[in-house]
Amino acid sequence: MKRILITGATGHIGSEVLASLCKSPQDLEIVAAVRNVEAAEQQFQPSSQLTFQVFDFEKPDTFSQAFQGVDSLFLLRPPQLADVDRYFKPLLEAAKTSGIQQVVFLSVQGVETSNMIPHYKIEALIKNLGFQYVFVRPGYFMQNLTSTLLPEILKTQTITLPAGQAKFNWVDVKNIGEAVAVLIKAFDLYKNRGYDITGSENLSFQAVTHQMTIILNKPYRFKSINPIRFYFKKRKDGLTTGFALVMTLLHFLPRFQKEPEISNNFFKLTGKKPTTLVAFINREQHIFNKT
Ligand SMILES: NC(=O)c1ccc[n+]([C@@H]2O[C@H](COP(=O)([O-])OP(=O)(O)OC[C@H]3O[C@@H](n4cnc5c(N)ncnc54)[C@H](OP(=O)(O)O)[C@@H]3O)[C@@H](O)[C@H]2O)c1
Repeated sequence: MKRILITGATGHIGSEVLASLCKSPQDLEIVAAVRNVEAAEQQFQPSSQLTFQVFDFEKPDTFSQAFQGVDSLFLLRPPQLADVDRYFKPLLEAAKTSGIQQVVFLSVQGVETSNMIPHYKIEALIKNLGFQYVFVRPGYFMQNLTSTLLPEILKTQTITLPAGQAKFNWVDVKNIGEAVAVLIKAFDLYKNRGYDITGSENLSFQAVTHQMTIILNKPYRFKSINPIRFYFKKRKDGLTTGFALVMTLLHFLPRFQKEPEISNNFFKLTGKKPTTLVAFINREQHIFNKT
C-alpha cells in the first residue's frame, strides 16, 4: 500500500486534499503531517486510512520520524515560510535520504516566469534532487475572499491591494483538492509535469466587488494601493517580511503580465466544470454576512 504524507493538512488546500483523498482512499495510507496532532484529530475523523504525525517545517528534528516509510510527499509551502534555503532545502534533502521517491508540490500558476517567488526555487530544487514530481499550479484562490481579505471586507466592505486593473484567475480551493487527489492517486500517469489548475474566469478586483455588491446586496469596493505602502501596511499588521513581500508581489506583478491562461486540466482530471465566482459567493454568503 502506498503511504502518502500530506503537509499543510489543516489549511485551505491540505484539508480539501484530505477530504478528496478520504472519499475513496483505495490503496492509500494517508498520513497528515501536522504541528498539533490533538487539534488535527478534532478537525478530521481519524480512520484506518488516515493517521496523524507530528511535523514542523521549522523543526528539522521532526522530519526523519515523519518521513519513515513514506513513498510520496504532498508538499505545501506555508505562506509565512519564504526562505527556501533555510526551510525547504534541508526538508527535501531529508526526504531524499529517507527514500521518498515522489513529490507533489503545490506551486502557483505563472511560476515558470516568476523567478522572484519561492515556488520557483522549490520546483527547481525538487527537480535537481532527482525526485519524480507533479507540480500543481493553481490560479488565485476564491477563498482569499473568505480568509486573508475577510477582516477588511467585514469591517469596511473594501478590498485594498496593489493590483490595479489586473485580472486574476479565480479558482475554488475545493476544486484544487479534487484535482490534487487525482494527481496523487494516478501519479505515474501524470508524473514529471506541471499542471495549471484554474477556474473558468479571469476577473479584476473591480469586477469581483461588483459581483459581491449584486449578490450580497451591499456596496463593496476595491481600492488599489501603491505596492510599497501595501508592503508596510502588511508589516504593520504583523506579517513576516517574507509573507508581506510575497503577498505584495503576487498582487502587484500581474499588472505587468499577460492575463492568466484558462486551463481545462481540472475538467480533464475530474470530468467536472470548475466553480464559478458567483456560485462561490452564493455558497459562502454566511461568511460575508457575519457581523
Ligand atoms: N492564496 C492564493 O491565491 C494562492 C494561489 C496559488 C498558490 N498559493 C500557495 O498556496 C500555499 C498556501 O496554501 P493554503 O492557503 O492551504 O495555506 P494555509 O491555509 O495558510 O495553511 C497553511 C498550512 O501549513 C501549516 N503550517 C504552517 N506553518 C507550519 C509549520 N511550521 N510546520 C508545519 N505546518 C505548518 C498550517 O498548519 P497549522 O494548523 O499548524 O497552522 C496549515 O495546515 C502557499 O504556498 C501559497 O503561495 C496560494
